[in-house]
Amino acid sequence: MSFNTLSRFTNLIDLNALPVEWWKDVIDLGVKIADNPEQYARACEGRIMAALFYEPSTRTQLSFQAAMKRLGGAVIGFDNPETSSVAKGEVLKDTAKVVSGYSDIMVMRHNMDGSAKAAALSADCPIINAGDGGHLHPTQTLTDLLTLRKEKGRIKNLVIGICGDLKYGRTVHSLCKALACFEGTRFVFISTPELSIPAYIKSIINEKGCPYKEADSIEAVIGELDMLYMTRIQKERFPSAKEYESQIDVFILDAEKMKKAKSDLCVLHPLPRVDEITYEVDNDPRAKYFKQATYGMYARMALIIRILENRHPAVLLAGKTYDGVNCPNENCITQKECYLPKSFVDRGGFLECEYCERTAAKPG
Ligand code: NCD
Repeated sequence: MSFNTLSRFTNLIDLNALPVEWWKDVIDLGVKIADNPEQYARACEGRIMAALFYEPSTRTQLSFQAAMKRLGGAVIGFDNPETSSVAKGEVLKDTAKVVSGYSDIMVMRHNMDGSAKAAALSADCPIINAGDGGHLHPTQTLTDLLTLRKEKGRIKNLVIGICGDLKYGRTVHSLCKALACFEGTRFVFISTPELSIPAYIKSIINEKGCPYKEADSIEAVIGELDMLYMTRIQKERFPSAKEYESQIDVFILDAEKMKKAKSDLCVLHPLPRVDEITYEVDNDPRAKYFKQATYGMYARMALIIRILENRHPAVLLAGKTYDGVNCPNENCITQKECYLPKSFVDRGGFLECEYCERTAAKPG
């Protein structure tokens, strides 16, 4: 079976696979577009974007559609796999191959970790990861970074609080990996022990030399923060209802807690909100989450333009397969799409899955 282990395209699967300068340029372009959108109204004329949404989405899906339409392009796709051939048992490899023959750029959201990379292995056009399981959500991160640029005037030297579901929240993982690349970032993680930040994210932050601390209440740390990123508890990713129920309503941001915050704090949330921010906070000028959702459309307009320029064809798989070694992550795409090469990178003492970044033991 042949796979594009060296892709001909600039894919956005993980921001950290692309140079930081490239993302900064996407953000700069997003700012320019936000200030003057009409100027870009024909930038993608004649181009088609396919949106494959295997999981529910409002903002990501509609902002991508609006972005392509505002650039003069067209959109095809599905938002319910049950009405596509996926329901007949089609594998991801075949869907990606076929749809990429109809489109110039493909955006995919899927419930399994590593699915975007798996699709890129067989796609004949660039692919953008619009969320792969509990793993990453790089276009939300571009949105978040653009929001910081617009609302705080900078992305570096910020104290970043992240609160809620740090274990399953893919927006959190992408954001931490990205912000760890900016000078002077300090993280404050606010969660229960059950939903704390995964070890692999901590080690990336450590490698980049960013200080971080962990806290168990918003009140105790809110006064130190430049940005507070609230998140929803990711109900759909819990192994059982009981485990989810034990995590509901632990952290709620309300007007009382906001009194202890800096006057220029920015409150962000990828949305949807359930009840982790009370409605009264919406009227506080420091609440930026609705603006953030709008910035997401401009970030995606810039991203589509830059991806289609194709300046960074990518290496998708650089490691190798090891006899008898499977990814231990039950939600890794290699567990479902069994034809995929189970490829790992050797990290010295352990192996790292090239789809979902989970570590596996080296064979003896
Ligand atoms: C997030 C997601 O899908 O991961 N939503 C989004 O894209 N803005 C966050 C969430 O669902 O909680």
